[in-house]
Amino acid sequence: MAKDGKKMRIAATADVHYGKHSKGKMQDLFATASREADVLLMCGDLTDYGLAEEAELLAADIRSYLRIPVIAVLGNHDFESAHPEAVIKVMEEAGVEMLDGEAVEIEGVGFAGVCGFGGGFGRRMLNAWGEPLIKTFVQEAIDQALRLEQALTKLQTERRIVLLHYAPVRATVEGEPPEIFPFLGSTRLEEPINRFRVSACFHGHAHNGTAEGATATNVPVFNVAAPLLQKQAPDKQPFRLFEI
Ligand SMILES: [Fe+2]
Ligand SMILES: [Fe+2]
Repeated sequence: MAKDGKKMRIAATADVHYGKHSKGKMQDLFATASREADVLLMCGDLTDYGLAEEAELLAADIRSYLRIPVIAVLGNHDFESAHPEAVIKVMEEAGVEMLDGEAVEIEGVGFAGVCGFGGGFGRRMLNAWGEPLIKTFVQEAIDQALRLEQALTKLQTERRIVLLHYAPVRATVEGEPPEIFPFLGSTRLEEPINRFRVSACFHGHAHNGTAEGATATNVPVFNVAAPLLQKQAPDKQPFRLFEI
């Protein structure tokens, strides 16, 4: 329950991939989410190439059509032009709460977010062994998990929601070619979610994955990649509603 005893309605989407010609692309989603939810989560790949001008088009649509608070994390596409800070700046100017190892509280519900990273799942997970480049790769996944943990530590709320771009479990990337599973997420992200008894986790990135899964301790995990939701329900706006 939110602070006042009322349930909070969370809308979540991901992978909107705004490009140079995307003006108005998520207009209907923003309008519908504003009517049906109290907050909107955007789980990364906000842009196609990580360009400020792409982010500007998304920011303009948010300003025009969204009437509820929006919380977001970056995705790998937002890093493509090597200036993720430019995307963050444009989003923040439009009032978006960008999380990168931080947490925010709205109406008594806590939200913690990071982009996350790859490395694979379970016993097949990549380990820091061998070449320095492998160790650097694995270290990034470890660092992302640590930053998620630090964000969760800051939250005093009973209800906690995690936003990621990469998947924390294998279940929600099922459907993608198994060869790319290691690039879609990491089990290292799952541990803090379980330890902090998170209420639900939302991610994107696996456009051809599975919409619902759970961690080892049964925390619900939702893949809210817009292309996936669009395929599943072509007549609906590509976001998931979750009440807490
Ligand atoms: Fe994507
Ligand atoms: Fe992605």
